[in-house]
Amino acid sequence: MDYLKIFAPATVANVSCGFDSLGFAVDAIGDEMTFTKTSEKGVKITNITGADLPYDVDKNAASAVIKKMLSEAKADFGIAITIHKGFSPGSGLGSSAASAAGAAFGVNQFLTKQYSLLELTKFAMFGEEVACGSAIADNVAAAIYGGFVLVRSYEPLEVIKLPVPEALTVVAIHPQIAIKTKDARAVLPTEIALQDAVTQWANVGGLVTSLFTNDYDLLSNSLVDVIVEPFRKGLIPFFDEVKTNALNAGALGAGISGSGPTIFALCKGEKSAKDVYKAIESTYKKTGIGFEMFISKINPEGMKIIK
Ligand code: HSE
Repeated sequence: MDYLKIFAPATVANVSCGFDSLGFAVDAIGDEMTFTKTSEKGVKITNITGADLPYDVDKNAASAVIKKMLSEAKADFGIAITIHKGFSPGSGLGSSAASAAGAAFGVNQFLTKQYSLLELTKFAMFGEEVACGSAIADNVAAAIYGGFVLVRSYEPLEVIKLPVPEALTVVAIHPQIAIKTKDARAVLPTEIALQDAVTQWANVGGLVTSLFTNDYDLLSNSLVDVIVEPFRKGLIPFFDEVKTNALNAGALGAGISGSGPTIFALCKGEKSAKDVYKAIESTYKKTGIGFEMFISKINPEGMKIIK
């Protein structure tokens, strides 16, 4: 094989209660990347469209991952890539993760001894470190495994793929401001109250249980974040209004997607998702701030080979 084109999905990390440990992949938006095998060793970025990202192979999340993989696999060939960003960096939808995970997945197709999904996640985490300074796994694991994932442990890395209830649908609004993950992490406390920890881990347990049992009421009750959201929501204009109106319109829950500013709402079924979409849209239209929105099913398979 000399050429490959893939779709790397956007992802929603944290999912309210699961800071740095829960995430899911979406279907509606993502990046497209192409990979061309070259006889010259190493990695080259030939084109980036849709966002202003570095061409320096050590600073770009995708090429940094590819360079590391080719070197560790002792590949006797190189890879030239193009990246078409389908959504903006700084959106909270796992932009650097899509690039890093897409890179790991794509290059793997060219290797004779392929890496496992867990190993690909580790390579992609290196890309996250290059892009935002922290080797976070929730977005990249969701992009690579697809569906809903739980990062059960970082040391050693353990990722568990969770089931996705059939009717689960996500509505998201991306207010047109950018928040750097680094900045959104800087506002977080280093210590938390035991009572908050109890609430949070009980909700993670409830959310995971609800995915296995298709219990939408339990899912709704568990989509609560008492630790991270209170500190980050001030970075997102009209967060409380969007959340309240989404819940009033029937959303199961709503919260910050990853490090924001995208706000996600989970809904049961398409009809409910459309109602929630309208409620969020009319809330934000009054603010004068530009925004983009989408409705999506949860993407069960993660990466897709296009050709
Ligand atoms: N879990 C991460 C965070 C996701 O919330 O900071 C962003 O990469």
